[in-house]
Amino acid sequence: KADGLAAGKGVAVCKTRGEAIHAIKRAMVERAFGEAGRRIVIEERLVGQEVSILAVVDGRTIVTLEASQDHKAAYDGDTGPNTGGMGAYSPAPFATPELLDEIIQRVLVPTVHTLRKRGTEFRGVLYAGIMLTAQGPKVLEFNVRFGDPEAQPVLMRLKTDLFGLLMAAAEGRLAGLPELEWDPRAAVCVVMASQGYPGGYEKGRAIRGLERAARLPDTKVFHAGTARHGDQIVTDGGRVLGVTPPGADIAAAT
Ligand code: GLY
Repeated sequence: KADGLAAGKGVAVCKTRGEAIHAIKRAMVERAFGEAGRRIVIEERLVGQEVSILAVVDGRTIVTLEASQDHKAAYDGDTGPNTGGMGAYSPAPFATPELLDEIIQRVLVPTVHTLRKRGTEFRGVLYAGIMLTAQGPKVLEFNVRFGDPEAQPVLMRLKTDLFGLLMAAAEGRLAGLPELEWDPRAAVCVVMASQGYPGGYEKGRAIRGLERAARLPDTKVFHAGTARHGDQIVTDGGRVLGVTPPGADIAAAT
């Protein structure tokens, strides 16, 4: 992967040596990601299901949110390249309570504790991207924010007041909060992307049907790459909309 920031597009998951060499040339010789690819990082290819564990942290107490899964392959039938996220769903069927406990004990607690020991009392949302491999859970990435598009289905299911939760984190009061309340239904966010994304794409295309979607019960259409031109909403980015309906289970929500 490109060592610098490449808007979630600098990663190549290679199956063969030839694919790896091609990816290295693309980043370092062709500079497909600009300066971000001047240095690259080569890591073990991990095989498994990916889960995103988001936790609200007040420096000491860690409150995990319901797990979600991010879907990175573009195009129908997953035939496209890896992207910054084509959708997400929650709950994540692979994230059993036992597994979540293992991730809390082996990943989140040591991370928050070590940050504290180093003088960084972390307050905010800690995002651990975890690959569930045959050798156990392995960390792919950390972020210090809600995931996109994981936040959409997770927050659609959160019944506890988000503001109160974040204030409690900021003020170091998480230990005193009651358990979070969740909508037991599943939620799925499907990202509508511009044609061509994650490669080149056109902006400024009119988006129709938003009013109709807004009338669907419990469904939210989150805007990402959109802009207002007069009274029209138009595309203004690669990931344009996150359509997020609930359902009794993931299949129904989809
Ligand atoms: N979905 C990955 C991220 O937000 O970084």
